[in-house]
Amino acid sequence: MVRVRVQVPATTANLGPGFDCLSLALGLYNEVTIESVEGGLEVVVEGTGSPSIPKDERNMVYRAARLVMARLGVSVGGFKIRVLCRIPPARGLGSSATAIVGGMLAANVLYGQELTRHEILELAGQLEPHPDNLAPALFGGFTVAVRTGDSVDCVCLKPPPGLRVAAAVPRYELSTDDARAVLPATVSHADAVFNVGRTALLVAGMAADKDKLFKAAMKDRLHHPYRAVLVPGLEEVLDAATEAGALGACLSGAGPTVVALCRENEQTIAEAMCRAFRENRIEADPLVLDVDRSGATLVEETGESDASG
Ligand code: HSE
Repeated sequence: MVRVRVQVPATTANLGPGFDCLSLALGLYNEVTIESVEGGLEVVVEGTGSPSIPKDERNMVYRAARLVMARLGVSVGGFKIRVLCRIPPARGLGSSATAIVGGMLAANVLYGQELTRHEILELAGQLEPHPDNLAPALFGGFTVAVRTGDSVDCVCLKPPPGLRVAAAVPRYELSTDDARAVLPATVSHADAVFNVGRTALLVAGMAADKDKLFKAAMKDRLHHPYRAVLVPGLEEVLDAATEAGALGACLSGAGPTVVALCRENEQTIAEAMCRAFRENRIEADPLVLDVDRSGATLVEETGESDASG
């Protein structure tokens, strides 16, 4: 029997103005365990949001693992999959990406580690078209990931030391499809210029460890104005974060979670954001997280990996 267990971090995509490309990995982890067995498929899911996760061939960990096996030309009898969910699903914290990355990484370890992490990122594009949650889930830290034709260009930067994230996590789910459906087909030249400048500023601020740039650099005009209809109180929550001392704040991924970059008073900032949500009749929970700097990690490997299948 061969068993592989990996942990995969939560992620906040669309960081500030970096729609579909800039992200941070966060210190909250889902765990994925895959065991190769004689035959059939068994999926056990525990933790937050587990009842809504498919336990059959539609399971994302299973589909991701099968894609890796197909790429490696491996066939196998069966799988036992165990998923431990700590990341609330459909909140804009990258829980789907953890299933894809976890399934692919675990299968790659099971069958001989032939794929590089970058090859896994490329392959994962078959299950998730936007690389912005996948890249930090795989590599950790602050990532710039852009689909360029058939491939993904990805650079990982070390975030400034001591940077932490305060979050307000609303108690409702928002699907990425619904959040993409409210986006316009075109935007004004002025809004495009606004985002290009701030995206450059945010990358430069991260690379050069210049905190004071983040307040301006975290602003966005490409998705916040449109997604605000799905996230009541969004503007007030962003203002509450900076008024409470955050360096800058933005919607996390497709929402509804809002994240704030901080150096101190993280709990106070997270609670101020939740209060602003509550004033807009949205219940939300505070969360304070470190930035993850390692990405997905192998935590257990039992038995010998089987490269021959
Ligand atoms: N960039 C994506 C979106 C996030 O905002 O729709 C989920 O991949």
